[in-house]
Amino acid sequence: MAATPVPLVDSFGRTHRDLRISVTDRCNFRCTYCMPEAGLTWVARDDVLTFEEIERVARVCVEGFGFDSIRLTGGEPTVRAHLRVLVAKLAALGVDLAMTTNGSGLRAQARGLREAGLDRLNISLDSLRAQRFAALTRRDELDVVLDGIDAALEAGFDPVKLNVVCMQGVNDDEVVDFATFGRERGVEVRFIEFMPLDADHSWSAVQVVPGERIIAAIAAAYPLRPLARGSDPAEIFEYLDGGGRVGAIASVTAPFCARCDRVRLTAEGKLRNCLFSVEETDLRSVLRGGGGDDELSAAISSCVATKGPGHQIGSVTFVQPPRTMSQIGG
Ligand code: 5AD
Ligand code: SF4
Repeated sequence: MAATPVPLVDSFGRTHRDLRISVTDRCNFRCTYCMPEAGLTWVARDDVLTFEEIERVARVCVEGFGFDSIRLTGGEPTVRAHLRVLVAKLAALGVDLAMTTNGSGLRAQARGLREAGLDRLNISLDSLRAQRFAALTRRDELDVVLDGIDAALEAGFDPVKLNVVCMQGVNDDEVVDFATFGRERGVEVRFIEFMPLDADHSWSAVQVVPGERIIAAIAAAYPLRPLARGSDPAEIFEYLDGGGRVGAIASVTAPFCARCDRVRLTAEGKLRNCLFSVEETDLRSVLRGGGGDDELSAAISSCVATKGPGHQIGSVTFVQPPRTMSQIGG
């Protein structure tokens, strides 16, 4: 491998620096928009990448291609046994290391993950109302997640961000409640537009609440000013009264594809150049077939080389990928 990292630039000039690693396709929740209640086939344990295999892919991305950030996802990453061992391995690569979690495992794991070198946490939470939470996740565990948020703050994660998928007629009446919650707890709430990655392919455009509308509703309650935008897909705002920050990820109405710097590794070792890819590059066969780092680098490069300009949600040619979000990794 080259001593100096070679930037991984695709045919649209986007440099890739961010690796999202799904450590498991399994989850202890069953969010209605993400997984069926039962009947989803899990990846066989032997087919899931080992920590050593994940570390190898990450090392090639960091040392070979200059990646500077890694995010662990799932499924639910905290259901993977000994997760902190992987965190320690990846933290040693010297990248910004983050994780997206449903929060249920944080009371038990937040401190250990922090000590192992995890830098940042995003916690997914779509309702602050117990019954609605139970209906959405098919688990009556709102209290567990709220306690998990406290555990994350106590463990010293700063900032703690909350991901809220906002759906018309489902939880859009909680936008201001979430803003209030974020201000009170000192967490940054980020509302995400609902994307067509749902388990039963019942997504329709009418369920999308435009980020602009969400921000307008919050600004009416708590005046806001926009902050300059970086490579972050979220548009971030600051409360004028010093109450912290809030954001919207308008993945459908204002996609950030033109600035996308991400690739995704699924739990079973498939590399995807987009959330909405219908094609994948099999890295596991390289890893397990005795391929060297050169071969691994070549496979990663070729995956990025074929990346398209962006998703075409809403156009007649859009095809929803066969995988659910839990099988891709957010
Ligand atoms: N649309 C938008 N966001 C989604 N997530 C899961 N499925 C969808 C979807 N269809 C969110 C999760 C989590 C993050 C990884 O992506 O709630 O916060
Ligand atoms: Fe699990 Fe996250 Fe999917 Fe919900 S959205 S079922 S918490 S992977």
